[in-house]
Amino acid sequence: MIELRNIKKAFGSKVVLNGVSCTIPTGKTTCIIGRSGCGKSVLLKHIVGMLKADTGSVLIDGRNVDTLSKSELFDMRRGIGYVFQGAALFDSLTVFENVIISLVEHGVTDTDHINAEARRVLSAVGLLPPVGGNGSADYEREFAILAAKKPSDLSGGMRKRVGVARALVGQPEYIFYDEPTTGLDPVTSQQIDDLLHELAGKYHVTSVVITHDMFSVYNVADHVIMLHDGVVRFTGSVAELQASSDPVVVEFLARFVPAPSSV
Ligand SMILES: Nc1ncnc2c1ncn2[C@@H]1O[C@H](COP(=O)(O)OP(=O)(O)OP(=O)(O)O)[C@@H](O)[C@H]1O
Ligand SMILES: [Mg+2]
Repeated sequence: MIELRNIKKAFGSKVVLNGVSCTIPTGKTTCIIGRSGCGKSVLLKHIVGMLKADTGSVLIDGRNVDTLSKSELFDMRRGIGYVFQGAALFDSLTVFENVIISLVEHGVTDTDHINAEARRVLSAVGLLPPVGGNGSADYEREFAILAAKKPSDLSGGMRKRVGVARALVGQPEYIFYDEPTTGLDPVTSQQIDDLLHELAGKYHVTSVVITHDMFSVYNVADHVIMLHDGVVRFTGSVAELQASSDPVVVEFLARFVPAPSSV
C-alpha cells in the first residue's frame, strides 16, 4: 500500500501541492485526475522519490521514502515500473535497448536473463506473439526485426507499448503510468486501456494511472483520486465520482461526454 501524508511542495513561490493525503490501495488500479498543471506528475515523482516534499511523507509498504538511503531508494525503484509522460523513449536506442535499460542501469550482465526478459515483456504488451513457442524460428525472426527498430520506426501506439514493456521489466509490484493515452486516437487509446487492464489482472500489479481522459478512467479505474488547488478534492470509486455533487467534480466531469453504456 502507498500512503501519502500531508505532502507539501512549492517551486519558488508557486505552491503546487498544499497538503496532499491519500492512500493507493494494493492490487487495484487508481486513476489520478485533475486539470492540467494541478500537480499530478509532481505527485507521482514524489511517490517514486524523484522529488522530495517540503513537508509530509510518502510511505510505500510502510517504508518512508524520504528516509531511505540512495542505495535503498535504488532498490525500491526496482519494484516500481514507471511509464513517463509522452512514453519518453530514447530515440537513438533500439527497441531492445530501450526496453532493457533498467537492467543495464542495475548492473545486470546475465545476457540470457536480459534476452529472456526482453522477449517476455514485448510479448506481454502484445508487440510479439506469446512467448512459449520454444524459440520457434518465426518468433525469433519477429523478435529480431522488432528489437532492432528505432522509436521513429514505430506508430504512436507501438511506442506507448514499448514504454509499458520497459516498465514491466523486473516484474514490478507497482506500475505508474503518466498519461498513457495522450496523443493517441480513440481506438488506439482503448487498446492501451485494455492492455493496462489486462496487465493489472494478469500480474496483480498495483497500478497508478494519471490521465486527462475520462474514458480511460471509466475503462480502467477501481479507485479515483482528484487533485484540485493543491489538495485531494475527491477520492472514491468511479460510481462515487459520477454520483458526486461537489461542484468542482461535476464541472470537471461535464467537460466529457458520458461513459459508453458498455462500461
Ligand atoms: N521541476 C519543476 N520546477 C518548477 N516548477 C515545476 C517543476 N515541475 C513541475 N512544475 C510546475 O508544477 C505545476 C504542476 O506540474 P505537473 O507537471 O505536476 O502538472 P500536471 O498536473 O501533471 O499537468 P499535465 O496534466 O499538463 O501533465 C506546474 O505549474 C509546473 O509548471
Ligand atoms: Mg503531467
